[in-house]
Amino acid sequence: MQYRKLEKLGIECSIFGIGCMRLPLLANPDGSISSDRIDEPEAIRMLRYAIDHGVNYIDTAYGYHGGNSERLVGKALKDGYREKVKLATKLPVWKANTYEDFDMLLNEQLSKLETEYIDFYLLHALNKASWEKVRDMGILDWLKDARSSGRIRYAGFSFHDEFEVFKEIVDAFDWDMCQIQLNILDADKQAGVIGLKYAGSKGIPVVIMEPLRGGKFAAVTEDIKELWNQAETKRSPVEWAFRWLYNFPEVTVILSGVSTMEQLQDNLRIFENALPDCMTQDELDLVEKVRALYESKTRVRCTACEYCLPCPNGVSIPGIFGIYNDASTFGIKDGHIKRYKKLINENRDASQCIECGNCESVCPQHIDIIDKLKEAHKILTE
Ligand SMILES: NC(=O)c1ccc[n+]([C@@H]2O[C@H](COP(=O)([O-])OP(=O)(O)OC[C@H]3O[C@@H](n4cnc5c(N)ncnc54)[C@H](OP(=O)(O)O)[C@@H]3O)[C@@H](O)[C@H]2O)c1
Repeated sequence: MQYRKLEKLGIECSIFGIGCMRLPLLANPDGSISSDRIDEPEAIRMLRYAIDHGVNYIDTAYGYHGGNSERLVGKALKDGYREKVKLATKLPVWKANTYEDFDMLLNEQLSKLETEYIDFYLLHALNKASWEKVRDMGILDWLKDARSSGRIRYAGFSFHDEFEVFKEIVDAFDWDMCQIQLNILDADKQAGVIGLKYAGSKGIPVVIMEPLRGGKFAAVTEDIKELWNQAETKRSPVEWAFRWLYNFPEVTVILSGVSTMEQLQDNLRIFENALPDCMTQDELDLVEKVRALYESKTRVRCTACEYCLPCPNGVSIPGIFGIYNDASTFGIKDGHIKRYKKLINENRDASQCIECGNCESVCPQHIDIIDKLKEAHKILTE
């Protein structure tokens, strides 16, 4: 395992951190799967195995696995494991309506995690609206208090919005760390590489989430596989995706949710040699080619800015384009059909479009939304 120094905090973290949002699950008696039924013995075995093999960063959150992730992590970290790791969890900012709620939520989390303190306490999934809400509720003063009382060691935030919002948040407080979504396809989306470098320039440690786009980089189509195989040194698509990230010296920890012991062992192997600045120019050029091939499969240039919403007839425009693009980029799978069926059941699918054109007049990407909705509906229902 490789470790990276968090100079600002005077500690070291393993470059591979375990994200506890995709733990192994048990099937319901009828064979269906629900994310709140964690396979506890297997999840505990995997977490302890990871720690025994050098992982010292564990990431969870109030809401993961229907609230059961924190409980599971609390159990896994018994028997001396708590002291071996830096534990990160997140304040569900959407659940806080008063200043007192911050304390109430943290206390509940400490109790579920069966610990006296949280190492990294993050404001969860900040965007412009949620940031302004909690800032105006006094969250920054509260974080200082929680830090000085010892209930949290370090204060941070996780982020899902545009770079300008990220910069505003970074500049607003003496953050101990931040967590951003970054992977080969999101290099210039959300905070992006520019955000990574900006935080890095201010000495703020950056933790990466969704390095495999939630697993999508693992199951690749033949053309993508062939392209990766043009590299002199052969690596799996998963290894390339991680490699592109750990190559950045500003990346401190890469979180990956692992659902099986095989995935965990594979990732432990990959992170043995996770050195910064390790990629050759040829390798970086190859990543550009793979990115271009993925992007050529994108059917709609929607950035999910949501300017088109609300649709007067409730059509989930960015949601539909998200499913359509995922299906065309990564190959259509049952999951895409299920996600679209859910929208049909909620009367928010593309067939609900009344062709008023309100959305097209405000779309900053000038997308022919009406036609693209029809196209998406055809592909996702055929
Ligand atoms: N703060 C936030 O707003 C936020 C948002 C998202 C995530 N997070 C955190 O960030 C963590 C990381 O994100 P993520 O879980 O989306 O990470 P990810 O690495 O992009 O996706 C994890 C998935 O990738 C697949 N996978 C992992 N290793 C693999 C391997 N060696 N071979 C093949 N497939 C592999 C598995 O999917 P399958 O089992 O489906 O094959 C696994 O569930 C989360 O677990 C969570 O802790 C935070």
